[in-house]
Amino acid sequence: MCSFVNRLKPVLAYSLCFQKGYSRKVPAHIKHIGPGLRTSKQPLDSVIIRPYCSRMEFGKGLFFRQLFESESSTYTYLLADKESREAVLIDPVLETVERDLKLVEELGFNLKVAVNTHCHADHITGTGLLKNRLFGMKSAISRHSGASADILLSEGDKIHFGKHHLSVRETPGHTDGCVTLVTEDHSMAFTGDALLIRGCGRTDFQQGCSRKLYESVHQKIFTLPPQCLVFPAHDYKGQTASTVGEEKRFNPRLTKSMEEFVDIMVNLNLPKPAKIDIAVPANLVCGLHEV
Ligand SMILES: [Fe+2]
Repeated sequence: MCSFVNRLKPVLAYSLCFQKGYSRKVPAHIKHIGPGLRTSKQPLDSVIIRPYCSRMEFGKGLFFRQLFESESSTYTYLLADKESREAVLIDPVLETVERDLKLVEELGFNLKVAVNTHCHADHITGTGLLKNRLFGMKSAISRHSGASADILLSEGDKIHFGKHHLSVRETPGHTDGCVTLVTEDHSMAFTGDALLIRGCGRTDFQQGCSRKLYESVHQKIFTLPPQCLVFPAHDYKGQTASTVGEEKRFNPRLTKSMEEFVDIMVNLNLPKPAKIDIAVPANLVCGLHEV
C-alpha cells in the first residue's frame, strides 16, 4: 500500500500543478529539473511530469506553444514575450497558416519573424503566406540553405522578440542549411531535423552528410545542459519533446561511434519523400513561388 501511495505522489503533484497553476505550487519533494519538466528525486525511475504539452508559461515572461500539422507530422512552435507581445514562429506549415494566424491574433501577439530550421523536403513552409498576410513580418533561414529570405542566419546570430532571443547554432548534416535555435537560458533547443526524439533527420538527399550530422549533434546540441528540452521539427510516434540528457543516453543512432552511425544512415533505405519535388523549389522562395 505504501509503495502504491509513493508511486502516486508524482501523479498527484501533477494534478496539483494543473489545478493551482504549477509555477510555485509544486510540493517540496518534486525536484525542478528544467522549465516544464518536473520529476521526483530519482529522475530516471520515476514518473516524469510534462505540463508543457498543453500550457507552458514560464516565470520569465516567455510564452510557449507547440503546434502540430498531421500530414507531415511537423511541429510548429510559437514563442512570445508576454510583456511586449513580440513573437516568433518556428517552422510554420502552409496548410496550418490560418490556424497559426488565428492563435497569434487571439493572443494579441505581434509576429516579428517566421524562421525555418532548414529548407524542408516534406512540406511547404507557411512563411510566404504569412508574409503576405502580416505586414512587416520577416522570414528567416540559414544563409547556407540556398533559400531566399529577409534574414539569412549564421552561427551565433540572435533572433530577438521583446526581451528574449533565440541563438542560432549551425547544425548541418541533414541539409547544409540546418540550424538549431536555442533560448537564452539554454532551457530549450529547437533542433529541426538535426536531432529528432530517439532519431535524426535522413542524410541521403539535399546535401545530406552523415559525418557532418554526427559532428553537428555532438558539438552543438549534446554540449547543451542535460536538462535542456529538445523540441524537434517532427515526430512520427506521438512524442512531443525530449531532453539533451535523454538523447545522449537513449538515442539509438547518436549514442553510437561515428563509423557505426554512418553505417546505420547508409542502410536506412527510406523512400523518397512524396512532396520533395514540389516542396523544395517552393521552400527556396519562402514557400510560395509568387512571393
Ligand atoms: Fe527535413
